[in-house]
Amino acid sequence: MRNSIAIAPAKAILFGEHAVVYGEPSIAIPLPDKNVKIEITSPVDQATGTVRLISPQNNLDSTLMDLPSDHPLREMISLFTSQLHIGQLPACTILIQSTIPVSSGLGSGAAVSVALIRALSGFLEMPLEDSRISEIAFEMEKIHHGNPSGIDNTVIAYEKPILFVKGEAFKIISIPVPLNLVIAGNSNRSNTKAIVSEVREQWLSNKERFDLIFNQIGQISRKAKISLENGDFTEVGNLMNENQYLLEKMGVSSPSLENLISTARNAGALGAKLSGAGKGGNIIALVDENSATNVIAGLKNANPEFVFSSVLSPADLKEK
Ligand code: PMV
Repeated sequence: MRNSIAIAPAKAILFGEHAVVYGEPSIAIPLPDKNVKIEITSPVDQATGTVRLISPQNNLDSTLMDLPSDHPLREMISLFTSQLHIGQLPACTILIQSTIPVSSGLGSGAAVSVALIRALSGFLEMPLEDSRISEIAFEMEKIHHGNPSGIDNTVIAYEKPILFVKGEAFKIISIPVPLNLVIAGNSNRSNTKAIVSEVREQWLSNKERFDLIFNQIGQISRKAKISLENGDFTEVGNLMNENQYLLEKMGVSSPSLENLISTARNAGALGAKLSGAGKGGNIIALVDENSATNVIAGLKNANPEFVFSSVLSPADLKEK
């Protein structure tokens, strides 16, 4: 048993949110500039004892046993111990620090899951493969999201851009040149589960229309994979705009998101769209060296809760 630290990145869905729930391909990338860091320390080597949880962002400092039984962290830890057939955790302090805006479609929940699984498995000296980490994080996602596609836990556990189809092996997308994104938004949207079930209601009442939209989005994701691999970001930007148009038709956009999207486009972004479940949350804008400063300034003027840039460079994506 030893002290253990793990970091997991935020994520953005570049293409295919919602359609992915209906079996269409989707593309997601890690955002290493924002992350969750979990540090587990044990002052004494005790096989069992008090587990203390500290999360400054959530004003939390409590023992595990004092948390309500349905507290997300308590549920995550009990899922971890049951998946690994461990009775009780050794005495330890678990410090959770996050720079990822919450409830904004940037994967903060899945990043806590992945970092927690990695930190606990390191602490217990039971190393786990990324595939197993992703699998356990998927079970944790189910507690809060009902019927998640699995894209969040996969992209965050593997930390690579991926083409993801629900229930199939994912493909890593290798992007030959740096991908520059600006992300902006607010942390005030309803949870993914509620938005996904609203889309489901709509689909049930008009399957023909919604199946067509999902299918068109799936085609965009397939084309985008090729454009990303060719480094053709003008085309990637166009495809982002097309995907946004279909998300608007689906009813998951919002006036404030559309305001940020048109601000980014007018400031010179190659393309912009909402990212994640929508109805609030965040937008992503694809920029190049010439437009980055303008887009950041324009978005800051629109006064969202957060604006940050994220560069995914080929060097970050080499095998770890
Ligand atoms: O939780 P978010 O905002 O990152 O959205 C997840 C993406 C959805 O496609 C809407 C749902 C899913 O499970 O894939």
